[in-house]
Amino acid sequence: MTVPFWVAGKPATGTGTTAVRHPFDGSTAGSHHLPGPSDVEAAVQSAADVADDFATLPAHVRAGALDHISRRLSERAEEIADLITAESGKPLKWSRGEVGRAVSTFHWAAEEARRFSGELQRLDTDPGGTGRLALVRRVPKGPVLGITPFNFPLNLVAHKVAPAIAVGAPIVLKPAPATPLTALLLGEILAETALPAGSWSILPLGNDETAELVRDPRLPVVSFTGSVPVGWAIRDSVPRKHVALELGGNGAVLVCPDWTDLDFAARRIATFAMYQAGQSCISVQRVYAHTDIYDTLQEKVLAEVAALRTGNPREDGVDVGPLINETAATRVESWVSEATAAGATVLAGGRRSGATVEPTVLADVPEDASVMADEVFGPVVSLVRVSSVDDGVARINASRFGLQAGVFTRDLPTAFDVSARLKVGGVLVGDVPSFRADQMPYGGVKDSGRGREGPAAAMADFTEDRVTVLTGLTL
Ligand code: SIN
Repeated sequence: MTVPFWVAGKPATGTGTTAVRHPFDGSTAGSHHLPGPSDVEAAVQSAADVADDFATLPAHVRAGALDHISRRLSERAEEIADLITAESGKPLKWSRGEVGRAVSTFHWAAEEARRFSGELQRLDTDPGGTGRLALVRRVPKGPVLGITPFNFPLNLVAHKVAPAIAVGAPIVLKPAPATPLTALLLGEILAETALPAGSWSILPLGNDETAELVRDPRLPVVSFTGSVPVGWAIRDSVPRKHVALELGGNGAVLVCPDWTDLDFAARRIATFAMYQAGQSCISVQRVYAHTDIYDTLQEKVLAEVAALRTGNPREDGVDVGPLINETAATRVESWVSEATAAGATVLAGGRRSGATVEPTVLADVPEDASVMADEVFGPVVSLVRVSSVDDGVARINASRFGLQAGVFTRDLPTAFDVSARLKVGGVLVGDVPSFRADQMPYGGVKDSGRGREGPAAAMADFTEDRVTVLTGLTL
């Protein structure tokens, strides 16, 4: 069945159709209708038209819709996980995890919608303000354009749609061309709610059709998750808009000499270097291990990586599936070759078959090799021996990225000191950087982006202060 896209909350069939391919074997994951210019125009204009009414919709209506979406995702979890796997090649166990996370993202947005109240500010702090009180509320900046990547086809969509609904900001969502089907299925669930027409649209457009939407003044907020060059180009192209960017990283781990549970550290490193074939902005890419524990850790990481099962992502028990397509896998393979030509040692993996790259562990990698300095977005991790905690911190900070980092230490002063000095959006103590609870603020510094997601953080980001001053009051 060819599924519709969504314009102003209604299914639409537009100008043509296209098929989505399963990255593992090229089979058809599904097909969808394609929006034409009149569909895009209708989606944007209806968002603009409904903006004022949506902003004043009672909180219980918005929260009720978000609760409904959360519940229906949970009821349809297995079907949705299958679809995520079909279109993205993500192993089923990770797809199931993603659905669970999206259930939580919508749930949290419902909770936050109920308590999003603003604050009172007394103004009688100076004689001129006697008898005055300010009511500081947050109001939507306007309709949001959400642009999402292929690596979390549901939950990164949820991180745009849920906070927009929670604050009453209409959203036009453009999902990744490789993985639009899950977002379109989410549209079925959104359509079950009483949200007003125009408050949401889902347009599976090509990336080259997006520039016009980005420039459209009726969409004053752009929330983008995706690649570094595209994200910054968007921000540079619309300097007067509010642009939030969740971009890439080259996630680093520091393993300090006091950390004794090297089995745990090795398991976490191996799992989260290779999960989703490394296609997560916070996957483990660089491991800086203190020389006292380096050799033992390397041995254990290799054992954990060897135990991972690579193969068909639809099979239960498979840990590592394909990359999103063969082009991506070829690029990763070429980066491994570039590193080995520059002196790196391949400790495990290194080969490619179709879109699948073997889980790969490297050592002796020059810091300026692409697998260290850029975002691999593939199942490749580099192990580095460091002489001290300071050495590790300096090397982590030498990156142009700064999303999240992990530090394995049991020493509280070290944990505080390192978290204070690491130039990243989040530090995980006793774990890898790949942990993300969906309610927490998430985002990066430096080239990794601007702004934070997580329902509460994105709700703040999608809104601005509106002050009402009350006069003649006894305070
Ligand atoms: C990302 O790749 O930026 C998202 C990671 C996550 O949500 O776990």
